Amino acid sequence: MSVVSSGRGRESDQRTFHEFTSRGAADSATRRSRRSAGRSLRVVGLFAGIGGLEHGLSLAGHRTELLCELDESAFRVLQRQFEGVPVRRDVRKLHGLPAATELIVAGFPCQDLSQAGKTAGIEGRSSSLVGEVIRLLRSRRQARRPIPLVLFENVPFMLHLARGRALEVIISALEELGYRWAYRVVDTMAFGLPQRRERVFLVAALDEDPRGILFADRVNQPPPQVPSPSLSYGFYWTEGLRGLGTAVDAVPTLKGGSTIGIPSPPAIVLPSGDVVLPSIEDAERLQGFEEGWTSPAHEGGRPSLRWRLVGNAVSVPVAQWLGGRLADPGHPFEDSWAEPVAKNRSWPRAAWNCGGGRFGCEIGTWPVAYERIPLHEFVASTQPLSERATAGFLARLSRSNLRRPRWFDERLAAHLRRMQQARHREQADGAKQNGSRAKSRAAAASATND
Ligand SMILES: C[S@@+](CC[C@H](N)C(=O)[O-])C[C@H]1O[C@@H](n2cnc3c(N)ncnc32)[C@H](O)[C@@H]1O
Repeated sequence: MSVVSSGRGRESDQRTFHEFTSRGAADSATRRSRRSAGRSLRVVGLFAGIGGLEHGLSLAGHRTELLCELDESAFRVLQRQFEGVPVRRDVRKLHGLPAATELIVAGFPCQDLSQAGKTAGIEGRSSSLVGEVIRLLRSRRQARRPIPLVLFENVPFMLHLARGRALEVIISALEELGYRWAYRVVDTMAFGLPQRRERVFLVAALDEDPRGILFADRVNQPPPQVPSPSLSYGFYWTEGLRGLGTAVDAVPTLKGGSTIGIPSPPAIVLPSGDVVLPSIEDAERLQGFEEGWTSPAHEGGRPSLRWRLVGNAVSVPVAQWLGGRLADPGHPFEDSWAEPVAKNRSWPRAAWNCGGGRFGCEIGTWPVAYERIPLHEFVASTQPLSERATAGFLARLSRSNLRRPRWFDERLAAHLRRMQQARHREQADGAKQNGSRAKSRAAAASATND
C-alpha cells in the first residue's frame, strides 16, 4: 500500500513515492531486513483522532488492539479505517486495557499547549487529559502487569509554555512510575512531504533505552530554503497582522483551528504566480494519508470537520519511522553531546533521563532526509484564493510590518487583479445574457400579441 500519492505530474511522482514508501518503511534493504527481524508490538491508541500514529505504526508491522476517541467524526473514520479494532469513546471511562498491551500511544489534546490555542497549560481542561494515561499506567503497575512502552506526541510550544511545566508534570509522573524516557522534536519535512510540521515525540520505556528509538537516526539537516519566485510559498491567508506562518516550497503546519474560528487551509503562491488553496485530499496527502482517508467523517458533518481532523493528526511517515525504530531500536547516543537540563527553564529540543539524571542536547529535527517533491507538483488543487480573501489579506498586510519578500505582495496584488477582472468579465457576460434573454422575451411577447 502506498503511504502517499502525489497530485500533479502523477507518473514521475509515483516513481518517487514508490521509492519514498519503501524508504518510509525502511531506510534501505538493510533497514528492511532489520525490521523483519524486529518485534511487532500490541498497541493501544488513546486520543486516536484519525489514527495517524496507529496507521504509521501498523505500516511498520505493529498491531492495534484498541482505539479510544471521543469526537464523533474522528470515531467514524477510525471505525472505517481500522476495521475489526474496537473503538471506545471517552478515555475517562476506560477502566482497563487489553492484557497483552505492550505500547500505549497518546497524541493528547494540544489546545491548551499550542501557541495558536488557549495556552491554559497542562492544567487546562483538554491537555490535563494526559493524566488519564498516567492513571492507566499506574493501575497496570499496581496490578503487576506494567505497560513496557509509551509514546506521547504533542506540539513543541509545550517545551516553552510556562517554562516547560507541561513536560515537567508528565515526566515527573513517568519517573515516579519507574520509566526511562527520551523525547525529540521531529519535522515532517524530513520525510519527503512538503509540509513544515514540528512535533515532540516522547518515548517512555521500562526495560530498555528509549534513546535507541528516538536518536538512532540522524542526518545533517539541509540549510533552510531561501524564498524565491521560482519556488512555491505557503502562507496563512487568515493571518497577516501579527504573523504569516510562511514556508518555502512547503505549506506551513496544517492546523486543527485558525484565527477565523473554523479550520481553514493555508494558501500557496505557485511559481506560475497563481495563488491556490489545497483541497482536503491534498491535505490528507500532505499528512501522509491516502486520499479520502477522512471521508467517513463527512457523513452528516460539515466539510470543515475534515480539516480539523487532518490538522490534528500525526504525519503517517513520521509514525512509520517511529514504528520502525520501536520494532528494531538502534544505537542510542553519543554521551558527549549531553548537558544537564536546568530546572524551571524552557526544555531543549531533545532530552532524556535513562537513570543517570536529566540531560538534553540540540539534536536536529531531521532523523532522515527523504527526497521531496516540489509543492507545486504535489498539490493537485487549482482552486484560487478568493478575491475577498486576497483583498482582506493584502489590506492586513499593508498595515503590518511583517518581513516578507517584495515579490510576495506583488504576486498577491496581481492575483487580486486577475480575480477582479474575471469577476468583471463574468458580470459583463451575465449582463449580456440578461439583455439577450430580455430581447427574446420581448420578441416572443410581440409575436404573441400579433
Ligand atoms: C491531537 S488529537 C490526536 C490526533 C491523533 N494522534 C491523530 O493522528 O489523528 C487529540 C484527540 O483527542 C481526542 N479527545 C479529547 N478528549 C478525549 C477523551 N476524553 N477521550 C478520548 N479522546 C479524546 C480529541 O477528539 C482529538 O481527536
